[in-house]
Amino acid sequence: MMLFKKLLRHNSSQWQVHLRSRSLRVWIAALIGCLTCFLVLLPVFSQQPVEIRFLMLAPETPLFAPLIEEFERENPDIRIRMVEGPNATNLVEDLYTSALLLGSSPYDLINLDVVWTAKFAAAGWLMDLSDRATPQELAQHLETSIEAGRYQDKLYRIPWRTDAGVLFYRKDLLQEAGLQQPQTFTDLLEVSKTLQQKTGVDWGYLWQGRQYEGVAAMFVEVLSGFGGYWINPETLEVGLDQPEAINAVNFLRGTVRQGVSPGGVTTYQEEEVRRLFQSGGAAFMRNWPYAIPLLNSEESAVRNKVGIRPMLSMPGGQPGSCLGGWGWGILSSTPHPEEAWRVLQYFTSERVQRINALKGYLPSLRSLYEDPEILAEFPHYAEMAQVFEKTVLRPSIAQYAQASDILQRYLSAVFSGRMAPEDAMQTAASETRSLLGRLSSAQEARG
Ligand code: GLC
Repeated sequence: MMLFKKLLRHNSSQWQVHLRSRSLRVWIAALIGCLTCFLVLLPVFSQQPVEIRFLMLAPETPLFAPLIEEFERENPDIRIRMVEGPNATNLVEDLYTSALLLGSSPYDLINLDVVWTAKFAAAGWLMDLSDRATPQELAQHLETSIEAGRYQDKLYRIPWRTDAGVLFYRKDLLQEAGLQQPQTFTDLLEVSKTLQQKTGVDWGYLWQGRQYEGVAAMFVEVLSGFGGYWINPETLEVGLDQPEAINAVNFLRGTVRQGVSPGGVTTYQEEEVRRLFQSGGAAFMRNWPYAIPLLNSEESAVRNKVGIRPMLSMPGGQPGSCLGGWGWGILSSTPHPEEAWRVLQYFTSERVQRINALKGYLPSLRSLYEDPEILAEFPHYAEMAQVFEKTVLRPSIAQYAQASDILQRYLSAVFSGRMAPEDAMQTAASETRSLLGRLSSAQEARG
């Protein structure tokens, strides 16, 4: 105790000496100054907006740029960084997958195609949104669009647009030749040839034949029309080597061989097909409804000459339009789930879906299909109800990307003349079975 008091006395006399020194007083003043600045600036810095990042398919970035501006104006605490990705769903999916496999995804949000949900959810990459959206809110969307966001009873994705493949036809050419719309795939070939002869239109039928996800979407429609199936998601049975599937492939190959479709279809995606059809180069086209406003735009050669209808079938088959569509999910690795959720709510809101619907993107909110403003602009939205009644799904399985890759590879081998349909489809079926066999043994092992 004595020692302590001595020290104190000694130290305080030392301090008095130091305080009298001018340099120490300057130092203390500077220190207090810095501390004050820090305390004043801290809240300013901590209010820096949070950045929410995502990757977007290139053609959709112009759609989202003004929406992002509007959101940022109303939410100054959030900045959105939209990164422009490639122009094919599977390529964007690959970029997300490699970023997530590396474990440090630079993204917070993800715009998911219907066919991605199972894989991303099974890998644990998506936040469970089941408790965030109320059943009443979900009931306002088309049921198929919500279902496409579920995996094992949990909700991972909220839709902002839906999609379904349709058959576009030239009303004027059919009328000129005095023909009715085709009802079966055989009719499609015959009517096409007649139109080519009678009206001089270059091509009959355009479809997406490139090796990418779009070819799988196009193929499930023809497959269903011929009465076949790809993978049964419940039993994991594979139907690619069945006679119906071979017939479906033969039909597509036949369109090129018979001069109804150009050889180029084997390298075409949606946009190549749309441009050729829009320039007046063909009588029929398989595509998604986003093409409608473009086909009716002022610069289009087929303005007001195009009709749409559900897909065709053969006797015994099921006409089916492939269900597509996109929705937002939150990556479970995001450090900003609350801000990401606010952006997601805005992007899936009625306001945003209405703006996008007026640009031709089919909404997922049911009310917008009866909206007078939208119907006045796009009367075909009423017809879409008929198309949605007969949709065909791509199998919702965690290994979808690999299964689709197998199908794309072998279809492409047939379309480019490298393999005969039977050989290609048998190999595709057996590769798919071994992929799914591994899947079912892994599931059994997990119990
Ligand atoms: C459209 C569909 C999507 C599909 C893709 C194929 O974007 O909405 O579901 O996978 O086309 O190219």
